[in-house]
Amino acid sequence: MPVRSDTAVLPGLKPLVLQALSAPEYAAGTASIDRLRLAPVPLVPELRLVMAEDAIVLWARLEAEAGHVLPPPFWASAWTGGQGLARYILDHPDTVAGCHVLDVASGSGLVAIAAAIAGAAGVTANDIDPYSIAAINANAHANGVELTLSSSDLLDGDVDGVDVVLAGDALYHPSVAARMLPFLARVVAKGARVLVGDPDRGHLAHDWLEWVATYEVPMSGAPEDAQLHLTSVLKPRRDKVDDRRGRATRTTASKGNAALEAMIEEATVDAYGGDEQLTGLFTMIEEHLAVPFTTTVLGVEVSVYKIDLTADSIVAVCARGCHRQRIDLLDLPLPTPAPDGTAWIDAYRHWAGR
Ligand SMILES: C[S@@+](CC[C@H](N)C(=O)[O-])C[C@H]1O[C@@H](n2cnc3c(N)ncnc32)[C@H](O)[C@@H]1O
Repeated sequence: MPVRSDTAVLPGLKPLVLQALSAPEYAAGTASIDRLRLAPVPLVPELRLVMAEDAIVLWARLEAEAGHVLPPPFWASAWTGGQGLARYILDHPDTVAGCHVLDVASGSGLVAIAAAIAGAAGVTANDIDPYSIAAINANAHANGVELTLSSSDLLDGDVDGVDVVLAGDALYHPSVAARMLPFLARVVAKGARVLVGDPDRGHLAHDWLEWVATYEVPMSGAPEDAQLHLTSVLKPRRDKVDDRRGRATRTTASKGNAALEAMIEEATVDAYGGDEQLTGLFTMIEEHLAVPFTTTVLGVEVSVYKIDLTADSIVAVCARGCHRQRIDLLDLPLPTPAPDGTAWIDAYRHWAGR
């Protein structure tokens, strides 16, 4: 089936692995490329997605092909929150049937594909990662559905002409949640419906969202990961929307910003220009952050054993077995409880506008 696109997909960005994703034998599930496989989604086995056996190895491979740092390949996993939301939509097709649907932070396109199968009049899958757009394209073909693809960052604006907005595991990071929740509130204020799929990674707005359903998600992968995780589908409490918007704005404006800015001032006091400010922040993080610590990246446990400075960013050097991966500190998921010195990471993220 043809896949419509409102964006020039991957101009100049054709790594081998993504070219291969659109090959017919791959879409037919008869090929495995660089440990990417077309496999059934554990909670939604009627859908098949291109998924990585080992997302960390894939990430390193993609960066080597691209020759520069890339965001994590979120698109190569079926996230727990998205699995629950896709299951709910397929079991309750009336939530989207005949509607114009936006799947925001679509990743692999899992939720968008479920909405299309459930009978939506039209589905737009939106993700800012161009690799994700390529993967959604391949996954849509593999599942025989038609999607509109969008790589615009929609979170600071309003959306028009949409009846339902779906957000699967879109609250996975505090900086994304801080923009996603006000965006969803504006969507609801304009009269559209919102459904969120989330395993509660700590950024849910419990006062604003109410529970709809909970699922146990069988985890795939290594036997030691074969445990069941709970994930929920939630919807906004309509009476709380405006209240939440006001509170979210005030919180962002006041909470901790003065303290973070004082830390940035301390780190960059003698710095001229962005490069020297970055070096100043790196020095503080290196001095104060307690390493090693363990965290989970793309469902895989890694040990962060060192912080490093590159030409334009600060990176965490992670180890898993004999494999090493450098992850931009802006994207590194942090464990709970956070290691000592994490406040300097917060200061760096604030300085970087995250
Ligand atoms: C944790 S993944 C979830 C993917 C998918 N919904 C699922 O449940 O499997 C989050 C996705 O959000 C995307 N993302 C982050 N910021 C975004 C933004 N401002 N607009 C759209 N997508 C965004 C990332 O690229 C990533 O693919």
